[in-house]
Amino acid sequence: MTHATRSPLTVHDFKKLADQGTKIAMVTAYDTWSARIINESPIDCILVGDSGAMVMHGHSTTLPATPELMALHTAAVARGAPHKFIIGDMPFLSYRKSLVHAMNCVELLMRAGAHSVKLEGVEGHESIISHIVKSGVPVMGHLGLTPQSINSLGGMKVQAKLAAEAIQLLADAKKLEELGCFSLVLECVPSEVAKEITKTISIPTIGIGAGPHTSGQVLVLQDMLGANPGFKPKFLRTYLDLNTLIGEALDHYSRDVKASAFPADKESYSS
Ligand code: KIV
Repeated sequence: MTHATRSPLTVHDFKKLADQGTKIAMVTAYDTWSARIINESPIDCILVGDSGAMVMHGHSTTLPATPELMALHTAAVARGAPHKFIIGDMPFLSYRKSLVHAMNCVELLMRAGAHSVKLEGVEGHESIISHIVKSGVPVMGHLGLTPQSINSLGGMKVQAKLAAEAIQLLADAKKLEELGCFSLVLECVPSEVAKEITKTISIPTIGIGAGPHTSGQVLVLQDMLGANPGFKPKFLRTYLDLNTLIGEALDHYSRDVKASAFPADKESYSS
């Protein structure tokens, strides 16, 4: 069976993989084109992250993402990757206004093709998380650096460096587990803190800038492919120099057009 003919993972597979020590590989995607490529790959699951507001729309934070925008990207990814488990990100304030607002957003994302939703933090929206879970929608938590709170955090900084913050983070992770989350993203926290959380809770942890001890890893697709050359955080490994490759291809094409070397006869129709 090829990767593209397998059924998507289920929430139970996430736990099974973590329990057997098989790491979970997750990337973000926002469009059908890249989702099709991921669909053919061994990547386990796709996050349609609100980072799309930055990566695809050029905003400087994730705050401009809306439920409608996230649903549009989720639908595009779902069309391209029918064999992957898809997590739709709930955007800024969508789970902080009211239960009805939150459930409208969940409905948009799930009807667009997500298999689960992700939301940041826990304090103050415990009952909303619980309601989403009890409505039959798997929820992925997100702790540590939570970019929707960038203005309170004072920037994109490593979190939980102090002992008291690490203790609070562990308590929040346990709370998300209790509320029924099936997994948890840990973003930009010290490796030892992520290790302790992963050891303590029974749901899989997916790290980004959280060291090697989490149950899995997530990277923004464009970052790992070298298509976001200005972004070089310590945690990032780039597997390709896509910007340079695309630049070279555009250069070549432009030279061919200007030299009348494209199209050739074999690329032209005759009557
Ligand atoms: O929006 C996103 O891409 C994310 C990941 C960085 C975890 O939340």
